[in-house]
Amino acid sequence: MRRVAIVGSGQVPVRKRHELGLRELGALVVEQALGETDKGRVEALYLSNMLSDELQGQKHLAALVADEAGLAGIEAIQVRAATASGAAALRVAHLAVASGVVDLALAVGVEKMSPQVPTAALAKALDARSEVPDGKTLLSQNAMLMQLYLDTYNLPIDALAPFSVNAHQNAQFNPNAIFQDRQFTAEQVAASRLIYPPLRLLDCSPVSDGAAAVLLAPLADAQQFCSHPVEIIASNATTDRFRIRDRAHPLRLEAAARSAKQAFDEAGVSRQDVDFFELHDAFSIMACLLLEAAGFAAQGRGWELAATGEIGLNGRMPIATMGGLKARGHPIGATALYQTCEIVQQLTGRAGKNQLDSPRVAMLQSVGGAGTTVLTHLFAPADL
Ligand code: COA
Repeated sequence: MRRVAIVGSGQVPVRKRHELGLRELGALVVEQALGETDKGRVEALYLSNMLSDELQGQKHLAALVADEAGLAGIEAIQVRAATASGAAALRVAHLAVASGVVDLALAVGVEKMSPQVPTAALAKALDARSEVPDGKTLLSQNAMLMQLYLDTYNLPIDALAPFSVNAHQNAQFNPNAIFQDRQFTAEQVAASRLIYPPLRLLDCSPVSDGAAAVLLAPLADAQQFCSHPVEIIASNATTDRFRIRDRAHPLRLEAAARSAKQAFDEAGVSRQDVDFFELHDAFSIMACLLLEAAGFAAQGRGWELAATGEIGLNGRMPIATMGGLKARGHPIGATALYQTCEIVQQLTGRAGKNQLDSPRVAMLQSVGGAGTTVLTHLFAPADL
């Protein structure tokens, strides 16, 4: 397999409602990711989106975005893994270039969740036969995990509030974040509107619109396209038992643990080498469980990393460094590609006021459903 680098990236601000349509948003981030690169060199576009067939009545989005972006004629395929779709598109683009089949590939994510909260459409990430008919949704499943966590470890109701405080703090200086102007104290998080007990408004990522893209090339050719490429040093995807109720230990995200370990092995790094972690903080409980699954905290102790400030920009394991899903926003299919763009910003010293001190290894973990599908990617500045 060839080594692969990210040589371009593009993102539009996440908003509650974008004026532009899916195809225009997709084409916009493709243009940004390409920069000066000749469109004629692009061979493939892998697109992630979860909801457009239901919310906009549009399937076949990859070819539509390719056409809108002036790339008609290339391979253009949609990739799906429920709420982890963006990472799945990144993985497929990575495989295409690593295998030698494709030289220049785009991974593009685009989602418009407005105008209503698409709770029923999102719930289709669960089992349509035996979970959805019982009224289960992503909100209810995460609420159940949160309650179980608080009960199991005998924690107060506000134990997870610092995750949200951190995310909103970090979103402040990210011009692409949906919530730049909303800072909260832990007390405000714990007192926010109850959504699905014990989940409160500020424990949840918002419904949002957005698009992001990255351009991938063989590492050996990377400097033809950009001066500061970022290498993808590990990429994998794995699954757990589909339904939470079939898992022996619901609070232990086995797929996330396995995926993280596999990524460290593939890259030849240890957990201690990871400088920051862009994780799937769609709900605070998910952020907490992912920190534990990857081994950054012991089982039942992930909340302490947040409570003691260790997840902050100056902490031991910064997470959600540009606001995360919670405060940058979570336009589902685009999310992991936003995170990839932010990782590129951090690793190339372009994260502005949120810049970490010379990070060398970044970790991205994306979750489909309630812990069912997990993809891990690791990144490092390209060492050419
Ligand atoms: N965090 C912070 N503020 C939020 C927010 C969130 N998650 N969701 C909405 N808000 C803000 C809105 O901006 C709005 O403020 P404004 O009036 O100043 O503009 C206010 O709260 C009310 O927003 P509204 O749109 O009425 O909220 P809602 O009740 O329709 O939606 C949730 C709130 C939590 C139900 C919705 O955001 C949600 O379902 N989130 C989870 C989505 C999900 O499951 N994603 C997939 C996960 S893998």
